[in-house]
Amino acid sequence: MRLFLDTGDVEAIRRANDTGLLDGVTTNPTHIAQTGRTFHEVVKEICDIVSGPVSVEAMGETAEELIRAAERASQMASNIAVKIPMTVAGLRAVPILEEKGISCNVTMVFSSTQSFLAMKAGATFVSLVISRLDAIANEGDILIEDAVTVKQNFGFASEILAASLKTQNHVLACLRAGVDVVTLPESLFFQMYKHPLTDIGLAQFAKDWESVPK
Ligand code: E4P
Repeated sequence: MRLFLDTGDVEAIRRANDTGLLDGVTTNPTHIAQTGRTFHEVVKEICDIVSGPVSVEAMGETAEELIRAAERASQMASNIAVKIPMTVAGLRAVPILEEKGISCNVTMVFSSTQSFLAMKAGATFVSLVISRLDAIANEGDILIEDAVTVKQNFGFASEILAASLKTQNHVLACLRAGVDVVTLPESLFFQMYKHPLTDIGLAQFAKDWESVPK
């Protein structure tokens, strides 16, 4: 399972990238707005740090608008993946963009039938938005399991990307189901390293090591 960071914060991306375990980044317009910087500036900087896929939103209503926005975005760096909305227009744009060699990440997927349509359209990534669904229906786990089943049943090539994850239990559900990618806030990324028994055990070893004759 690949690990992406879900943020526009370049310092957070640098810290996660320094671990050697970061495989990519996802952003959205909210993340970019929070930086107070231009879209171009932030995305260029992220792509200079991370060699894996960096997802950025294509904004537009029609397939033609989305294709133009995606083409512009993809010119910023070779590792750009373009986020395309889960709409009729969005899924019309996906095969055209994929044919041009532009990776699409279909975003705002909340149902299993939507995930099927995004895979059928040929998206490189299908983004399941887990905690937002859990907040109204508590069905995030079902969405994850169904997407993996749909992918396996029909042999789709899309990578299932679980987004909007807030807890280690969300990550656990993805590991158990065999999701391809999770995208995490920085706090959850680093929380995964931690366990109180690890800290207690290591502190004990450090203390005992002091009494070992050297
Ligand atoms: C997914 O496509 C969204 O960009 C993002 O991951 C949503 O995360 P949030 O619910 O934490 O804002």
